[in-house]
Amino acid sequence: MKVTDDYLWFCQQVLRKTGLDLQQYKRAQMERRLRSMAERAGARNLEEYWAVLERDSQQFAYFIDRITINVSELFRNPEKFEELRRIILPEIRHLGSPLKVWSAGCSYGAEPYSLAILLEEMRPLNYQILATDVDETILSKAREGVFAPEDMRNVSPEWKQKYFLQRDNRYQVKPELKRNITFRKHNLLADPFENGFHLIVCRNVVIYFTEEAKDRLYARFFQSLVPGGVLFVGSTERIFNYREIGFEMPLSFFYRKPALGLRRAA
Ligand SMILES: C[S@@+](CC[C@H](N)C(=O)[O-])C[C@H]1O[C@@H](n2cnc3c(N)ncnc32)[C@H](O)[C@@H]1O
Repeated sequence: MKVTDDYLWFCQQVLRKTGLDLQQYKRAQMERRLRSMAERAGARNLEEYWAVLERDSQQFAYFIDRITINVSELFRNPEKFEELRRIILPEIRHLGSPLKVWSAGCSYGAEPYSLAILLEEMRPLNYQILATDVDETILSKAREGVFAPEDMRNVSPEWKQKYFLQRDNRYQVKPELKRNITFRKHNLLADPFENGFHLIVCRNVVIYFTEEAKDRLYARFFQSLVPGGVLFVGSTERIFNYREIGFEMPLSFFYRKPALGLRRAA
């Protein structure tokens, strides 16, 4: 077989095997990353690299890990989490019980556990957190809930003490923090979305998505929120066409679906 564009061919193989559509990620960055991984694996092109991945499951796990980039920490951009705690959560807490929260692209769990801490602090409050990621390996790590000191730099001594057990320089979340979190594999670019969320947190996930993929995603998040519900995005992310989608922006990086009665006529 003569492959004319080995990048496209490679994307098709990945899609067939994993359901992950790399063509919805920006080509320049993705291709650079793939080619450098291929080179390190001793492959001369992406066809050869695919052959390596097909026969070596460890290489395959490493590949998925690298293309999805799992960097995170607890209370990433603490000033935004402080706004969430002080302004947004008190506004949305009465929208429903249980309060339904989605951490979309949760990586190894720093984000959903940060949300769980804020919600525990609001007790008595019923809440459920759905925490999803496309990367199965990172989800198992998230379920364990064990963090390194670098992950913990934004956690106050009081909360460290209250919500974590410290062992050998690792921080294990206490069971009460896990109780209301469901971890599930989910691909934001391919799988159906649940509805009825009061808060959707999707931060530092879409950076590598194409503009079209982002537009589609934000419109789908809008559909999944209840009126009055809020979408919280990363601190380098902006939804330029938020008004077109129907959102209002009460604070930067927070987008709200207008409460019923306040919707503008279409
Ligand atoms: C940089 S981490 C962000 C973690 C956390 N949200 C934060 O802000 O710290 C990006 C995560 O998005 C996930 N991801 C990438 N593409 C995805 C997709 N199509 N569907 C779901 N998750 C995806 C990656 O596996 C990775 O764990």
